[in-house]
Amino acid sequence: MTTELDTSLRLFLPKINTALNSYVPEDGSVLIEAARYSLMGGGKRFRPLLVLAMVEALEGSVEKALPVACAIEMIHTYSLIHDDLPCMDNDDYRRGRPTLHKVYREGIAVLAGDFLLTEAFSVVANDTGLSSEEKIKIIQAITTASSAKGLIGGQVLDLEAEQQSVGVEELSTIHLMKTGALIQGALASGAISANASPDIIARVYLLGYHLGLAFQIWDDVLDVTKGVEKHGVEGGRDQAAGKSTYVSHFGLEKASKLAIEHTQKAVNIAMSLSGNKDALIELIRRVTT
Ligand code: IPE
Ligand code: IPE
Ligand code: MG
Ligand code: MG
Ligand code: MG
Repeated sequence: MTTELDTSLRLFLPKINTALNSYVPEDGSVLIEAARYSLMGGGKRFRPLLVLAMVEALEGSVEKALPVACAIEMIHTYSLIHDDLPCMDNDDYRRGRPTLHKVYREGIAVLAGDFLLTEAFSVVANDTGLSSEEKIKIIQAITTASSAKGLIGGQVLDLEAEQQSVGVEELSTIHLMKTGALIQGALASGAISANASPDIIARVYLLGYHLGLAFQIWDDVLDVTKGVEKHGVEGGRDQAAGKSTYVSHFGLEKASKLAIEHTQKAVNIAMSLSGNKDALIELIRRVTT
């Protein structure tokens, strides 16, 4: 995904970064310093942008959804810190810089991840712009996304699938859980804060299904085609770790084509929403460019 963003996304990006900065202010402690190293050190902000773009597509208030957008980026950042640890993917680069455990002790990296995950829920719980009912629905959506049936469960399956040949069906399940679930959670949280009906929320989950799958297939494509400079993480790591990917199954060309087909399906669903869909469609299209 490139980082040149269109108009309303360009407005959303500084809002997200300013709010994140204020949610995790420096306090002189090593914990916050480490958390900020990862949280404020780059990243495309794809998931918080998705939250706000979804809100705009459903004619909701972007300002009201900003805390939720930040909470989701905190959860995503925690997942990256832990994903990079020696006991997981054992990676040295993230967001174009050395991984957190390379700069601080491994224990501090684990705890900084724990902190960001916990703090995300504190941001939502303590927010004054959302109603209590909205907060509960949003917390339900993001805990489901992060849970044993979502991100964490997907990471477990991903670890267990290393050095094994995994069929495409199981691979898509892993992708949908480890990556798709939080993308669905981001879109659903935006929809909830925009007071979407259950019918629209179901449509939003389907959009997230296609987008999540496309996102992880493309991440695996980039692992083969791009390195730290362009993608922020080292290339060739999936093959080195013996991971099955869409690329190892189908080859680069077919895997890319499948990802593009899924983004097109996501765009088609986005088109059916009632408000200004430009930012959302722009964001979806950027996944496979
Ligand atoms: C990387 O996510 C991890 C995956 C789920 C594939 P991003 O590509 O969104 O990483 P950042 O946030 O831009 O660093
Ligand atoms: C990461 O998948 C998924 C989560 C962090 C939940 P990858 O392991 O493929 O992501 P990168 O390539 O390290 O960013
Ligand atoms: Mg991983
Ligand atoms: Mg990884
Ligand atoms: Mg990857």
